[in-house]
Amino acid sequence: MSARGDQPRTPVLRQEYRPPAWWVDHVELEFDLDATETRVTSRMSVRRNPEVDAEPLTLSGAGLETKRVEIDGEPAKFDERGADETLVVEGVPERAEVTTEVVVHPERNTALEGLYKSGAMLLTQCEAEGFRKITWFPDRPDVMATYRVRLAGDRERFPVLLSNGNCMETGELDDGRHFAVWNDPFPKPSYLFAIVAGELSELADTFTTRSGREVALKFYSEPENIGQLDHAMESLKKSMAWDEERFGLEYDLDVFHVVATHDFNMGAMENKSLNIFNARYVLADRETATDADYEAIESVIAHEYFHNWTGNRVTCRDWFQLTLKEGLTVFRDQEFTADMRSPGVKRIQDVSDLMARQFPEDAGPMAHPVRPERYVEINNFYTATVYEKGAQVVRMYETLLGRDGFRRGMDLYFERHDGQAVTCDDFRRAMADANDADLEQFERWYRQVGTPTVEASTRYDESAGELVLELAQRLPEHPDNRNIGALMIPVKVGFLDTDNRPLPVTLSGESEAGPETRLLVLTDEKAEYRFRDLPADALPSLLRDYSAPVKLDYDWSSRDLARLAGFDSDPFSRWRAMRRLSERVLGDLIEGRDEHDAELLIEAWAAVLDGSGEDPALAAELLSLPSVGELAQDRDPVDIEAIHAARVELLGLLGRRLENALRERFDTLAPTGEWSSEGPDAARRRLRNVALGLLASGGCDDAAEWASKHYDGADNMTDRLAAFRTLVHHELEGAQDALADFEQRFADDQLVMDKWFAVQATRSDERAVDDVRRLMDHAAFRLNNPNKVRSLIGAFAMMNPVAFHRADGAGYKLVGEVLDKLDDINPQVGARLATSFNRWRAYDDKRSAMMKEQLQKLAAKKGLSPDIEEIVTAALKDRSGG
Ligand code: TRP
Ligand code: ZN
Repeated sequence: MSARGDQPRTPVLRQEYRPPAWWVDHVELEFDLDATETRVTSRMSVRRNPEVDAEPLTLSGAGLETKRVEIDGEPAKFDERGADETLVVEGVPERAEVTTEVVVHPERNTALEGLYKSGAMLLTQCEAEGFRKITWFPDRPDVMATYRVRLAGDRERFPVLLSNGNCMETGELDDGRHFAVWNDPFPKPSYLFAIVAGELSELADTFTTRSGREVALKFYSEPENIGQLDHAMESLKKSMAWDEERFGLEYDLDVFHVVATHDFNMGAMENKSLNIFNARYVLADRETATDADYEAIESVIAHEYFHNWTGNRVTCRDWFQLTLKEGLTVFRDQEFTADMRSPGVKRIQDVSDLMARQFPEDAGPMAHPVRPERYVEINNFYTATVYEKGAQVVRMYETLLGRDGFRRGMDLYFERHDGQAVTCDDFRRAMADANDADLEQFERWYRQVGTPTVEASTRYDESAGELVLELAQRLPEHPDNRNIGALMIPVKVGFLDTDNRPLPVTLSGESEAGPETRLLVLTDEKAEYRFRDLPADALPSLLRDYSAPVKLDYDWSSRDLARLAGFDSDPFSRWRAMRRLSERVLGDLIEGRDEHDAELLIEAWAAVLDGSGEDPALAAELLSLPSVGELAQDRDPVDIEAIHAARVELLGLLGRRLENALRERFDTLAPTGEWSSEGPDAARRRLRNVALGLLASGGCDDAAEWASKHYDGADNMTDRLAAFRTLVHHELEGAQDALADFEQRFADDQLVMDKWFAVQATRSDERAVDDVRRLMDHAAFRLNNPNKVRSLIGAFAMMNPVAFHRADGAGYKLVGEVLDKLDDINPQVGARLATSFNRWRAYDDKRSAMMKEQLQKLAAKKGLSPDIEEIVTAALKDRSGG
């Protein structure tokens, strides 16, 4: 656990970056492994950095029992400062070998950062600042060293001993112990270091790179899960081939390891040649994983693999640059998934995810630029903003420079910076220089806070015979936005004629007809674009493909939204139009207005259902309503009950009015050919399950019977889970049986039990609070397992507003109690859960006061972790009202 003082911690500032006073060129580590007490000896070859003023060697360490410190083999004078977790070594010559020996306690480590125990295995998590929990070191990403690691431990308990790089030597020791020596020839920052030791089964394969290097691919899991590794292995091979094809990037070592663990704070970690994964992003088979799980695994495997170049070979100079590797690598994994699957559906999913998770962050007390200016606890900045909005920022380079231009920029980036720790500015310069482009203004995307708005309006200039489009941009109110100025915003536009056919977009003064989608680049506060040869009633389709991470303000009529939803050539634009139309109807229902456009929406949905044979996956995306949480985003005060009631009402109406079409879809979409987790087979399943859900929403007579049959007859987890959710969420007859059956069927499968917990935690009913409380005592639940906390408590707090905001405060109280405990167990996971109180000011006085009380209780806790403290303090200070 990091230092917990009682005075508020001072934030680290981006502007205060200083190069390190000492370099470490090479480090030799020795681990004497044991679950209760592991001894770590480190020999660092240090060298003073002549470019900065001399200062004593200062190392970081947290929770270490220091046994010895030596300089060139002689005992050293050192000063261990517990409060700031540093060790200052006096009298180190310009170059020296500094040795430290420490003891750590993996079994006691519930924070899952540093060296810890999961099941029977010992493993490490070092990003961002976990290496200092293993040994004394300048634990910052701009200090890059080569590592040689010797692992020794009991042969029975730890038959497999892994670290980064190549295995150089193995052998026997006394007392049933053995050892392995690993050498990583690539200099790396300490956050990419990893070891794994335990009794693991192995799935092996090979990949031959295009230059002919044969790479051994090895996946490890607990022996009982060895049969669930094949999909991840295939995903890795696809990723390796894709990165060669699209970016010319080859793997650089002879081995690549992936290890699955059940105890992990995040999704996965890109440690050099030893990726460690949350088991949920590795293990899959037809009975236990949904199609969505299969896709998520493929994408996370790709993400971590892609980090080998964007993150590892070229890394971050400091943690403010996190989006340099994360935004870029998310962009890369999104492109990979688009190429492997459906680009249109993938784009919709990514933008929809951005709007659901990142927009609230941008509007909340922790709002920060993709490149933050300050932090107290860096773990709190692994956010949707840094990752997902960061990926949109990277995508804009490609939109502006074209695919080839982007590739030229990437090539120059690697040519200049391979082996270095660099900044977002270095990336931007490579993009600019490779294309002779001026991207100075683009830098503002890295400094602005919150979601910008683009206001659009159109008019027809009769005298000139031109259609005029006006765009104006605006940043949200925020102290950090004061000196930003106008952003460089790519806006893709198109127009439809009255028959909904695309029109060429030609600017006034051009002699030849333009393309059907045109890229405009807004660089001023306001701009006017004039188009010739467009009819006065041409229907604008704006911000196609979501060409910039902004909110678009344009006053479409409901009828025009329905036209765009039905006929625009851009799938994202269709989805957004449908979203807007349903938001408008829901808005009217929430405010209790009698007049609304539900009929138009029903018509639009009917048309989608009717044409869904072509692309059932896209149809499934179009046939969805915004969640209660999303509808709450733009409201102040928020009335959760009214929002929920409106949503139930509209879903009911849609289900009833479309009943025949839905039944017909449910029948015709029954599986035909061979099962596959992707492609047409998965797309059919997707739409079929949407149809089932809507039939249940509509209260259709045999929904219960159909759902039960669907559940019992399912030969895959996608169908079984969809049927299960429908039964439980709609409290259909058969729900209790399904709950018992599911529990008993999957009692031994941790990952499937997570789904069982999550379905119950997200039932939109006030009684879900009591269910969650009861389930916390279930034998399969553990507060010290992040997946369990996320699937039961996280899902409840973040995805079940109806129950979380129960009028009597029982939901807040439950989450408050869990946070109090998590703060002692795992602050990193706790801090994420604490953000569920961020919008406390936006609710009615009673709820607002109860949420505030939970925040204040936490703030007053003695020894509160910096992680939770940072979140809670920001929430209490927030004046925005949400
Ligand atoms: N770098 C990891 C990724 O993007 C993220 C990560 C995994 C992480 N584990 C972590 C970040 C622990 C902070 C702490 O894939
Ligand atoms: Zn990443």
